[in-house]
Amino acid sequence: MSDNPYQNARGNKDRSIVNPHGQGTLQPGSGGTPRPAKEGEPFLIGEAMTGGYGKGPAIIHDCTIAAGQGEIAVIVGPNGAGKSTAMKAVFGMLNMHEGSVRLGGKDITHLSPQARVAEGMAFVPQTSNIFTSMTVEENLEMGAFLRRDDIRATIEQVYELFPILRDKRYQAAGELSGGQRQQVAVGRALMTKPQVLMLDEPTAGVSPIVMDELFDRIIEVARTGISILMVEQNARQALEIADTGYVLVQGANGFTGTGQELLADPEVRRSFLGG
Ligand SMILES: Nc1ncnc2c1ncn2[C@@H]1O[C@H](COP(=O)(O)OP(=O)(O)OP(=O)(O)O)[C@@H](O)[C@H]1O
Ligand SMILES: [Mg+2]
Repeated sequence: MSDNPYQNARGNKDRSIVNPHGQGTLQPGSGGTPRPAKEGEPFLIGEAMTGGYGKGPAIIHDCTIAAGQGEIAVIVGPNGAGKSTAMKAVFGMLNMHEGSVRLGGKDITHLSPQARVAEGMAFVPQTSNIFTSMTVEENLEMGAFLRRDDIRATIEQVYELFPILRDKRYQAAGELSGGQRQQVAVGRALMTKPQVLMLDEPTAGVSPIVMDELFDRIIEVARTGISILMVEQNARQALEIADTGYVLVQGANGFTGTGQELLADPEVRRSFLGG
């Protein structure tokens, strides 16, 4: 690919994209945080979740997904395994029969998705995750709809993270390439200054080079202290950058471990990573 849409401006080290409640101090159990998690508990946890859509049958069964503060957790598994459903459960879009979701030690199981955004969650769904007829900058502004403070600095942060978006800020988002659209979607989600960023297949349909670049940016976001919970089709590459990996099988936890553990597990390799 001749044009690298990310240019070379790497290294957004400024932490101001993070929710001020979370800046650099949210080590679970470290004390002194506004909302400390239970001793040893990950910052975000969906625990023993069983649930489905509306009055329908359960799609996920006793499923546990978690992400520590500033960590990258990756969910992989076959098509239809319930990866997106597990994400929706964590975000409050599912009818939960059993289980709970906690954020920074607070039980948010019964909160609406909107209320979860106010609590510091941001969600980029698998499809329809940008407003195609709006400009790039309007998309970012829409992402900040809940905020009453000045959003300019956060828009600048997003442009530092994804320089191409600054160049295209007055262009309709629908005119962008697949990889650039995903940057808009991630940027839009960052506009609420979340503590947790949830991404459902952020690299769907992009080239391997663009995928690598996007993963680099996601690592940068995690380094600012934001927890990342991500579903990925590119399982091998995603597990490479995962602090924790979850293999979902038929709506349940099949294998759980560090990214490296899963990559080294013969059965995971054979069954889910193509050998
Ligand atoms: N809105 C819905 N209403 C009813 N059933 C649904 C809905 N969305 C998904 N399902 C069902 O839930 C199951 C799991 O789907 P889900 O989308 O969570 O899988 P996935 O692991 O994300 O798959 P993919 O890799 O294709 O994205 C499937 O059987 C699907 O048919
Ligand atoms: Mg899915």
